[in-house]
Amino acid sequence: MSGEHLPRRQRRRYREELCCTSKRHCKWIRQVVASEAETASANAFPFTISGRQRSRAQRESEFASVGAFGSNGSVFAKALIPEEDIEHLSVFRPAVEKMAPYVPGEQPRPGQRLIKLNTNENPYPPSPAVARRVREALKNGALRLYPPPRPQALIERAASVFGVPRDRVIAGNGCDELLGILFRATLGHGDTLAYPSPSYTLYDTLATIQEARVEHIPFSLGTDGMLAALARARAKLTILCNPNSPSGAFTPIEALDRLAGRLSPRLLAIDEAYVDFADENAVRLLKRHDNVVILRSLSKSFSLAGVRLGLCFASAPVIETLSKIKDSYNVSRLALAAGVGALEDMPWMRRNVMRVKRERERAVRVLTGFGFEVLPSWANFVFARIAGSDLSALAGALRRKGILVRHFNSPCLRDGLRISIGTRAEMNALYAALKGLKQYMRAVGDSQRRAK
Ligand SMILES: Cc1ncc(COP(=O)(O)O)c(C=O)c1O
Repeated sequence: MSGEHLPRRQRRRYREELCCTSKRHCKWIRQVVASEAETASANAFPFTISGRQRSRAQRESEFASVGAFGSNGSVFAKALIPEEDIEHLSVFRPAVEKMAPYVPGEQPRPGQRLIKLNTNENPYPPSPAVARRVREALKNGALRLYPPPRPQALIERAASVFGVPRDRVIAGNGCDELLGILFRATLGHGDTLAYPSPSYTLYDTLATIQEARVEHIPFSLGTDGMLAALARARAKLTILCNPNSPSGAFTPIEALDRLAGRLSPRLLAIDEAYVDFADENAVRLLKRHDNVVILRSLSKSFSLAGVRLGLCFASAPVIETLSKIKDSYNVSRLALAAGVGALEDMPWMRRNVMRVKRERERAVRVLTGFGFEVLPSWANFVFARIAGSDLSALAGALRRKGILVRHFNSPCLRDGLRISIGTRAEMNALYAALKGLKQYMRAVGDSQRRAK
């Protein structure tokens, strides 16, 4: 917006803003939003003119009646105002307003036929016990009634399946909600979160909301170097995603055992959203360390991404504190019923995990054959790189062929694609599409060779 049409004296940068201004500035007003009679208070608007600017404006009689409600015909309007006269009175906290939003993977619109290998869902359906339990819940008022604040049936089931005492379990509306609760409980303005990077970028978002500092410890330091750096960081909260996303790398549990000891009493959170696709997990550390917090998701191995259900295991005092923060009714009755059904049928989950792992092995072989460097993965996805390239165009080309994979546009990840493991048929479709893009692959390979 500029003021070219205005007299030279007033040639400044102008912005169209919602404000309270006077009819005397009608030539600048784009749209009257409400007259004074209809509007109770200027504070209803996020934008106005600061007191200092207002008095200056009044002195200069540019905005003589700004803020003078009720007597001289002020209106709430969209008007062209000199930028220097605008104080951005946001209704939001600066940290929130400035932060970039977390960008989730694409979810197809209803009816859109795409092969989804971009958000690590399970390609196989959940156990039939899930639908059975949900039907039962529907008969028992699941839609009409609030859910229990502490869902005993799910917690008991989870406690017995994972071998954790009941008072050390809390359920959440997905692992993401539990991460949010944990971050809110532990991090405040200026506190430090440390985590090995690159990893799940939601950690940055959640820390930023809390106005916490983030210390990214590079995975490239190697396991020992990375763990030593995490211990040295002495962060208020340390989190480690294991297996990690997007690399699929696994940090040995003995190493986490040592790290928990070094960090104590500071909390070490272990995000085990993908751990059922690995060979071991960190649950045994709960017996040895009161500062270990384990986060689980039922979205991946249990095929319940649409339900939103996660679990957190920690010491009883930590669980008690997290419970103070969560919404009373944070997990719906339908999700609780689905969770109980899923946890009742562990063989079903394990069978699906085995199928994913078999397909993962084949994916490593086939994608390597296409010229990708495929990192060893303990999760339900692989990260396939062509070092030094930018694979966003390849992700786009696959998208046009109806296949969604995940490309991250950050300097250390843009040369790779995170590919969720789908069914055999879905993976075959991916390989066929890549075959059709051979020329593209060859061009990327050539440019990479030239760069060497
Ligand atoms: C590392 C990691 N943690 C947590 C989550 C969130 O899991 P949920 O679907 O249970 O919220 C994801 C989801 O993709 C993830 O990748």
